[in-house]
Amino acid sequence: MSHLSLPFESRYWPVKKLFDVYERSIREPEEFWAEQARQLDWFKTWSKVLEWEPPFARWFVGGQLNASYICVDRHVKTWRKSKVAIYWEGEPGDVRVLSYSTLYSEVNKFASILRSAGVTKGDRVALYLPMIPELPIFMLACARLGAIHTVIFSGFSAQALADRINDIEAKLLVTADGGFRRGKVVPLKEIADDAVALSPSVEKTIVVRRTGKPVAMKQSRDFWLQDLLEKAAPFVEPVPVESNHPLYILYTSGTTGKPKGIVHSTGGYLVQNYCAYKWAFDLKEESVYWCTADVGWVTGHSSIVYAPLAHGAAIVLYEGAPDYPSLDRWWNIIEKYGVTIFYTSPTAIRMFMRYGEDWSKRHDLSSLELLGSVGESINPEAWLWYYQHIGGERCPIVDTWWQTETGGIMISPTPGIECVPLKPGSATFPLPGVDAAVVNESGELVNPEERGLLVIRKPWPGMLLGIYGNPERYKEAYWSRFPGMFYTGDYAIKDKDGYFWILGRADEVLKIAGHRIGTAELEDAAVSHPQVAEAAVVSKADPIKGESIVVFAILNEGSTPSVSLKKELTDHMRRMVGPIATPDEIYFVSKLPKTRSGKIMRRVLKAVANDATIGDLTTLEDEASVEEIVRAYQELKKAEEEAK
Ligand code: WT7
Repeated sequence: MSHLSLPFESRYWPVKKLFDVYERSIREPEEFWAEQARQLDWFKTWSKVLEWEPPFARWFVGGQLNASYICVDRHVKTWRKSKVAIYWEGEPGDVRVLSYSTLYSEVNKFASILRSAGVTKGDRVALYLPMIPELPIFMLACARLGAIHTVIFSGFSAQALADRINDIEAKLLVTADGGFRRGKVVPLKEIADDAVALSPSVEKTIVVRRTGKPVAMKQSRDFWLQDLLEKAAPFVEPVPVESNHPLYILYTSGTTGKPKGIVHSTGGYLVQNYCAYKWAFDLKEESVYWCTADVGWVTGHSSIVYAPLAHGAAIVLYEGAPDYPSLDRWWNIIEKYGVTIFYTSPTAIRMFMRYGEDWSKRHDLSSLELLGSVGESINPEAWLWYYQHIGGERCPIVDTWWQTETGGIMISPTPGIECVPLKPGSATFPLPGVDAAVVNESGELVNPEERGLLVIRKPWPGMLLGIYGNPERYKEAYWSRFPGMFYTGDYAIKDKDGYFWILGRADEVLKIAGHRIGTAELEDAAVSHPQVAEAAVVSKADPIKGESIVVFAILNEGSTPSVSLKKELTDHMRRMVGPIATPDEIYFVSKLPKTRSGKIMRRVLKAVANDATIGDLTTLEDEASVEEIVRAYQELKKAEEEAK
């Protein structure tokens, strides 16, 4: 087995069965994945399992399938026809329960509406919706026609929405008259109108009635979904697409520039996710699966829509805030629908932990069998609290590491095969087929317990097809650092037992409450304020959100720092990007520390923002600027404390 270059030796694997599956998946990846792929329904079998022209991978080449057929049609041919597909709860407490047969008829009708609106195979459709059943239904309806959906998180601003629509030149935008969040209505249609004014490609919008609040409708451009439904056909033939036909595009932040449109395939993506959820979550048709993420992120795409529905499980979809109207809203939902698998973020756990276990104690959570964590590393304290107070010391916690780019879970315990002994804070071992490794700056494997960069050394079926319209950026972002290895952008260590520990981003990407946002986007938003000349953004460790945003800004000549200007800049950044771009701290400074080549030294700013030591500054052009920053920071801190 020495020729295999397995990421770890068998003696590190505490469980035999998992090791055997893993070992085979690395030894015979094509046979292995072909076997997995056969579990899905294909209209036509592939002629080639993998075409690998680095760095482009094409899986199940020539195979034909349809994602809506796999997630819906195949279930209505079985007993699952009358079982629950979606338990939906709105924030105000309204409930809708959809069986697979209802879902089937809705997906067909929605597909017929899209078809009447001129949508055909390969067209891009933008979905800007709250967490209501119409969102997954529209996704599946797009997939039915072979159209490519782009879901834009409903917390993003008009500008962010327009940027994404323009990048894919979407002809159609689907939105709603609003959505509920903490008792208030988010005016999605208004935001969408502002975005459409900046997006010439949009010919039509379809509007879902959710809140009943009056909205402006533009004649012959905007259409109410409910009116279109009256004329909708009850059946639309699912369009067979080649395995590598894009299922969706989802934007995510990178190190530089605007967000990248990550393109996912249909066949490889579905195979990866079908397997990953069986392995990591032991997902079955009788599971009641609740992932609390928003469908607007990749977690929502895979863990709310495609994986659980491909398995014929029931999903829970909840529209609103976790603490509305009270802190036991989530626990109430678990009890009410008998959730068996619960998947959330460390940020949420830490938030609940702060308020104590009295809230979860009010509810019977005994239906839970398995818990999951995703989006950021989970600290052992939060892990233990989750294990004790939510899982009743009964449920394993699967800490799942993956990314928008990977499409599916990559490193995680796999109780669906065999559960390794868990270590709180470690995502444990790679899933079968995933050749993960930790390397140094030169791409060589590091020793156990040594920090390095996480890479994936072989293509996997859920791997992104590319970045929409930008193959060069795709090569540059993921494959240029270490030729032949996918660069994840994360630091990691493998401990002496072979367990992986993810240590956070190694690049200029922040994780705010598990949400990914690039410093470049935040800086662009800050400097677009008329009074800001230059800005640098770094993160600060946050006990709940993991990281929070700190802005250092140089004002234009003639502008004076003030509390009101801070507030204005905060509002401005929220308007440009969305509430996730809210800075926690803003410091007005007169200089930023830079290298001789003019690059901002974020490392220095980060140290300042985190009260840490600054380290080696020999590459700094002007060390005085660091002292100034430190002084400015300390003065501001003092001033803020005095103000309290
Ligand atoms: C980044 C990807 C795909 C899930 C949602 C996030 C961080 C994700 C973990 C974990 C430690 C994690 C990484 C990764 N991350 N899961 N279990 N432990 N860190 O998707 O927005 O594309 O972000 O999230 O830093 O690179 P994303």
